Amino acid sequence: MVGGAQDSIEAFAPDLPEFWLGDPHAAFRRLRREDPLPWYAGTGGAWCVLKHADILAISRDPQRFTSTRGVQLGLGDPNARPAGIPPTILEMDPPVHNLHRKLVIRAFTPGAAAQLETTVRQIARECLEAVEPDAVTDLVEALAVPLPMYVIAEMLGVPRSDRPQFKRWSDAMIEAGGGGRSAATDAAVGELLGYFAAVLGERRRAPKDDLVSTLARAEIEGARLSDPEILIFCATLLAAGNETTRNLISGGSLLLARNPDQRRRLLEQPARLPNAVEEMLRWWTPVNSFIRTAVRDTELRGRRIAEGDVMLLLYPSANRDEEIWGGDADRFDVCRDHARQRHLAFGFGEHLCLGAPLARLEARVLFEELLARYPRFDVAGEPELLHSRLMHGVERLPVLFRG
Ligand code: HEM
Repeated sequence: MVGGAQDSIEAFAPDLPEFWLGDPHAAFRRLRREDPLPWYAGTGGAWCVLKHADILAISRDPQRFTSTRGVQLGLGDPNARPAGIPPTILEMDPPVHNLHRKLVIRAFTPGAAAQLETTVRQIARECLEAVEPDAVTDLVEALAVPLPMYVIAEMLGVPRSDRPQFKRWSDAMIEAGGGGRSAATDAAVGELLGYFAAVLGERRRAPKDDLVSTLARAEIEGARLSDPEILIFCATLLAAGNETTRNLISGGSLLLARNPDQRRRLLEQPARLPNAVEEMLRWWTPVNSFIRTAVRDTELRGRRIAEGDVMLLLYPSANRDEEIWGGDADRFDVCRDHARQRHLAFGFGEHLCLGAPLARLEARVLFEELLARYPRFDVAGEPELLHSRLMHGVERLPVLFRG
């Protein structure tokens, strides 16, 4: 429950999955109008940042709003973790952050992503070939899960035979992040780190052209990364790239099925697909929030923010902010002009999503192949939404694949 004028927004509880399963945008719309920076007392308390301009201001100012005290609501301070577990790249500030980001940036530029197009298309086609036409199939299981998982596994140099385990491990990491930490998820994350430790040992003996080998020989100011640093980096790439892209694909498919006029436009003009993917990112927004922490007393939108206060960056709200997107911000429109406005689905500033070019490529190629083969695919049952406060996704999407 929020205080003051916001008491009227009784259902506002962004730390609870149930809030996200309802219609969070009704609350966001009203709060943006009435009180766009409310204090929310749940889960340790946080300022809820609803306006596009405020998320930009915070994200571009790591000297005032740090990532080093954690980036996910309720997960606590990374500095309080047991010794030997280093922070992830998301939990660093400049200049240290930049030194780490530079180690892998070459594998994630738009040019590097473009080189993966043939591989991505091949995986997308294999997934679609395995689908039985005119039978009800879960699109998440058939397309949205395997594509990003196989692509990131390919980049990390993981053999195909080991890939089935990856879904379980990656899910466990996301579940732990979404507030669902348990002995089982901890054990799965432990298995994942153990697995990468073995791969790392192999790559040290016989380097290959993959990310684990890149990290094995990487140096920062003349010093090699420690094993725990490398393992956390690998696990972060796996978790960050997997479920996010999965939810873009499943959410985007649902949007196309529910908006036949928009789908028709794409069938008539497939060249609009890159723009349609931007609109899917804006409208669906696979990541609900990340946090920053104020490092000193400061002010924002006339509010006094105290040192140590948490700022909850609500990307889905910024992506419907009328001030940026106009009066029809709630409409899904594949022709919306994304050249002038920037959605915040990939964040902003220092930590702007490293995998954005890759995620864009995967979604575009997948939808090109899906629409070419099954232009009339249709939802054939109630979609099951993901129960998470961190991610906006579809757990199960029954679809009839029709040509
Ligand atoms: C639709 C898909 C994706 C979405 C919506 C998404 C979203 C985001 C967001 C919002 C951030 C900002 C975090 C912050 O400011 O604290 C981020 C960072 C990051 N993402 Fe993504 N992501 C996606 C796909 C990927 C992929 C495919 C990869 C890699 C394979 C990836 C790797 C990363 C990494 C490593 C960071 C941290 C960058 C840094 O701290 O410098 N993401 N992502």
